[in-house]
Amino acid sequence: TNQSLPHDDSLDNSLALLREGYLFIENRVKRYESDIFEARVLGKNAICMRGEEAAEVFYDPEKFQRKGAAPKRVQETLFGKNGIQTMDGEAHLHRKLLFMSLLTPPNQQQLAKLTREHWESALERWENAERIVLFEEAKNILTNVVCQWAGVPLAESEITDRANDFISMIYAFGKVGPEHWQGRRARNRAEVWIRGVIDNVRTGKLQSEKGTALYEMAFFKQPDGTQLDTQMAAVELINVLRPIVANATFITFAALALYQYRDEKEKLETSTSDDMESFIHEVRRFYPFGPFVGAKVRNDFTWKNFQFKKGTVVFLDMYGTNHDPRLWEKPNEFKPSRFKDWNGSLYNFIPQGGGDPAKGHRCPGEGVTLEVMKATLEFIVKRINYDIPNQDLNYSLDEMPTLPKSGFEMSNIRRR
Ligand code: HEM
Repeated sequence: TNQSLPHDDSLDNSLALLREGYLFIENRVKRYESDIFEARVLGKNAICMRGEEAAEVFYDPEKFQRKGAAPKRVQETLFGKNGIQTMDGEAHLHRKLLFMSLLTPPNQQQLAKLTREHWESALERWENAERIVLFEEAKNILTNVVCQWAGVPLAESEITDRANDFISMIYAFGKVGPEHWQGRRARNRAEVWIRGVIDNVRTGKLQSEKGTALYEMAFFKQPDGTQLDTQMAAVELINVLRPIVANATFITFAALALYQYRDEKEKLETSTSDDMESFIHEVRRFYPFGPFVGAKVRNDFTWKNFQFKKGTVVFLDMYGTNHDPRLWEKPNEFKPSRFKDWNGSLYNFIPQGGGDPAKGHRCPGEGVTLEVMKATLEFIVKRINYDIPNQDLNYSLDEMPTLPKSGFEMSNIRRR
């Protein structure tokens, strides 16, 4: 044990971690009055930390590695085995360039355009529906959008099952028991599906256009000139498809924000693109989605007099950093205008990780998230009127990940 670090005395905090969820690290940061403390998690000593300075250290590739950091249960559900999330050094940067090249501003715009079109055509159905559940609609629409964009064939009859599998993979992290197993089965099904598609492209049975995510994954060359094996290519293509569908969660929270903060909704009705962006940033800061991210100490180092020993697992609190009162005035108030004078630091606003995405593990999909959300928000705020029937909109901070219970039901939807 690290003598100089505040140490959580519990024998093992794994259950506390699941029980306290998004607030596990924050609760202890407050208890020990320290940004950094040591605890036993999953049977091992781990260091937990939060804040801008901690994020800067965490994203220093000299100090941390990802190899060996992600638990098997997470790789078997959320990530896929041996994907980009577990890579380090040159090999990681080379693989990351592939993702960055697929998620460029023109492709973000293409995804936004498809998203707008799909919301518009859903509206025809909604006008005749008694009520709809926004989360359900969003996951199906985004699955349709992402497959179309990526060049992955998807039959109308498949949409809901494939969408549900993407969501099960995402909603398995932080879960034990049935939801974990559901996530594993979902991943297995998705991998079989996508391996088949990759094989068909490689053997020419399926035409694929250069520049699409499908083509570029299928024919990507590693630094040694070889192609990814079919399984690896499938894992990485799923690493592009699944997280775009994950935006259904942020979309649902955005709708909740429009309901909880009516004056913000009114402002958006006559808004500029900058106002939309501030609102979306605030949704990503305020509501819980990614709780924390983990890595392993690569080489012994000392930071602020604390010793970090090679091989120790370290968790960076993303949710806590986004609610750190030193960085965010009144962090528990929803206030999009705070982003008008945000300093743009790579380490203080980290709902999708910190640092430079091209140089480290920060999410390469923030531009996509922003554009897809903007298209969606514009549709909800400017194109439709709706009622919000009685429902349970509570979400729990001790479940990871979480969602308003009802998924956000809307009724009496009409065009404006
Ligand atoms: C990595 C969150 C959307 C693709 C990450 C990380 C987080 C995150 C926390 C890990 C950062 C780290 O390990 O340091 C989110 C959230 C999203 C989202 C909350 C909202 C829906 C997207 C989108 C894409 C994407 C739209 C694009 C297809 C990826 C990939 C990685 C990643 C490929 C791995 C990067 C690496 O290891 O180098 N994301 N993400 N994500 N995200 Fe996202």
